[in-house]
Amino acid sequence: MRGDLRASMPRRATRFPLSRLLRAVPRRDVETRKAAEAAWRDTEERYLGLFLNSPDAIFWIGVSQDGSFILESINPAQEAALGRPGHEILGKPLDAWLPREVADPLNANYRRCLETGHPITYEESADIGQGPRIYQTLLVPIRNPQGRFHRIVGISTDITDRRRSEEELLERERLFRLLFERSGDANLLIDGSCFVDCNQATVDLLGAASKAQILGMHPSELSPPCQPDGRPSKDKADDILALAYRLGSYHFEWVHRRLDGTDFPVEVLLTAVPWKGKQILHTTWRDRTEARRAEEQRRHLEAQFQQAQKLESLGVLAGGIAHDFNNLLTAILGNLNLAQFNLNPESPAAPFLENAERTVLKASDLTKQMLAYSGKGRFVVKLHDVNAVVGEMAHLLQVSISKKAVLRLHLAKGLPPIEADGAQLQQVVMNLVTNASEALGDQEGTIAITTGLAELDADYIASTFPAQPLPPGRYITLEVSDTGQGMSPDVLARIFDPFFTTKPTGRGLGLSAMLGILRGHQAGLKIYSEVGRGSSFKAFFPAAPGHAGPAEPSETHEATPLAGRILLVDDEAVILDTIGPALEALGLQVVLANDGIEAVEQFRADPGGFDLVLMDLTMPRMDGREAFQLMRRTRPDVRVILSSGYNEQESIQAFAGKDLSGFLQKPYTLQALRTALRNAFREG
Ligand SMILES: Nc1ncnc2c1ncn2[C@@H]1O[C@H](COP(=O)(O)OP(=O)(O)OP(=O)(O)O)[C@@H](O)[C@H]1O
Ligand SMILES: [Mg+2]
Repeated sequence: MRGDLRASMPRRATRFPLSRLLRAVPRRDVETRKAAEAAWRDTEERYLGLFLNSPDAIFWIGVSQDGSFILESINPAQEAALGRPGHEILGKPLDAWLPREVADPLNANYRRCLETGHPITYEESADIGQGPRIYQTLLVPIRNPQGRFHRIVGISTDITDRRRSEEELLERERLFRLLFERSGDANLLIDGSCFVDCNQATVDLLGAASKAQILGMHPSELSPPCQPDGRPSKDKADDILALAYRLGSYHFEWVHRRLDGTDFPVEVLLTAVPWKGKQILHTTWRDRTEARRAEEQRRHLEAQFQQAQKLESLGVLAGGIAHDFNNLLTAILGNLNLAQFNLNPESPAAPFLENAERTVLKASDLTKQMLAYSGKGRFVVKLHDVNAVVGEMAHLLQVSISKKAVLRLHLAKGLPPIEADGAQLQQVVMNLVTNASEALGDQEGTIAITTGLAELDADYIASTFPAQPLPPGRYITLEVSDTGQGMSPDVLARIFDPFFTTKPTGRGLGLSAMLGILRGHQAGLKIYSEVGRGSSFKAFFPAAPGHAGPAEPSETHEATPLAGRILLVDDEAVILDTIGPALEALGLQVVLANDGIEAVEQFRADPGGFDLVLMDLTMPRMDGREAFQLMRRTRPDVRVILSSGYNEQESIQAFAGKDLSGFLQKPYTLQALRTALRNAFREG
């Protein structure tokens, strides 16, 4: 291709430099001259080779008669750069074949070259036919025989691509610098074993005023003296740096120290990168403080959740057993009471029956605890004034605690009521006070019951009762504290496990039952305890709008017989067999039904013929709730007492205080039965 180009070159262009050289040769003799000619031809060959094969554009500029610059000769590279053959443009002024805005700056440079008489180099951007390109150009002025500069030889190198890649490199460098500087993770460079660069996130994380405080430091100088495994930070850091240089990268956890002296956990990644002929370490720190906290919280929640699940399944078991036992106990108690009813009070058998009755009532206390533990034993829900409940119990509490204990009540005035089952509320107070007294043992000490009002916001609830979704709002607090032996963390972790006790005669059910009761009341619990100093249990009951109702009517002991017709409904034959005769003994006429469907049929056959219905809640085929509703549809003023040995909290709540004439929790004494009947009759 070069050969073709050579053939197309104008003769003048290729011969011009040689003729100039020849003129400068001295003429002495023919041999010398021939030798010189041979040498010059050789030189011409060499320059011609250079001219023709140079990748850079080479051009000769002359000045025409009218003083404008013209191209006298160009090499193939220049031809290629111009994109047209030389014969089209040689000898013509530049502005004849180039746009003015391109030709003018070229002319100005040539003029400057001739005027100064020195070679000049410069960079120029021009579009001489191939689109805008950047050239680096050298112009050398040439003299004529008279010593005047009249011609220019120029070399132009197209540096467009080089410039472009230089700029791209610069851009990329700028981008990487930005990524380093703006990264949210702390980024540092370690040269040898010291920090030589870092970004703003590092400065912020360490609480430094500027980079200067960090650069030049060894990692151990920004760490506590020892790491959590007990190794000195300096030794450990040196080992890790050596390892990272050897392996190329290393990932590990570390504890760093801020300039204010506080420590924080970080996840560190070291990556070796080549730089100026050696290896340096690119270092990233990711602050683990938040992640650690979240992990800790998750573990805590998980533990709480597992505990809640365990309590729930145990609760189902406890509730089921309590239900069945309550039915059995109702039958035993009913039979006992009937036997007592029919027995001459002077009979020598009377005290034995009384003993048996007392034992059955104790057994019923136990099933009550189990039901409470199931968390669904909240039967009779009314508005209660916590202070009144505590006040009424004061005497009972006083006699049940140790003689050396002093009981103090701090009851806040004007508290709003809470919605609660009164008996269960008493059970909570009793369990806590009994525990407090037992914690004092035979030492002197104080037991305090304190009530108050607290406004709980979402933050406080989340931090104090993380496993309990309590709604924010007003809560009535009931706190029982003692100056007893306190609890170790091990004991504290297990106090709600059913049957966990540290007492020789304890059953380990008090607090489990209490927790169930609190759960049933959507109440929270906060415990504080210190070994040797005492404990405090503080319950938070949601405050209810309105005022507390009057205290429950106490049992009447009137002996006057009852009269009327009663429908007794229960799926347990033992109950029908026992309570049926008991009701008759009380003076009532009794009709029996085995379940809800039978009861409704009996009732519909003669709606006006029944003065009262005493019905179990949990029955197959049709339960007490549905039967009750059907009966009310037939006769809206029907009087119904429901009874249950189970945890029918939801169902009961729907009736409580409204249409229901009473509720009897199994097992019940004949006395309680008589009171409930009498109240129902009085009501109607
Ligand atoms: N006020 C307190 N001071 C110190 N320890 C307590 C206190 N309250 C409870 N405990 C600890 O918690 C354990 C469980 O209490 P919980 O009331 O559930 O059962 P108990 O008192 O042992 O038996 P129960 O109440 O069934 O008769 C107790 O055995 C005791 O170790
Ligand atoms: Mg107890």
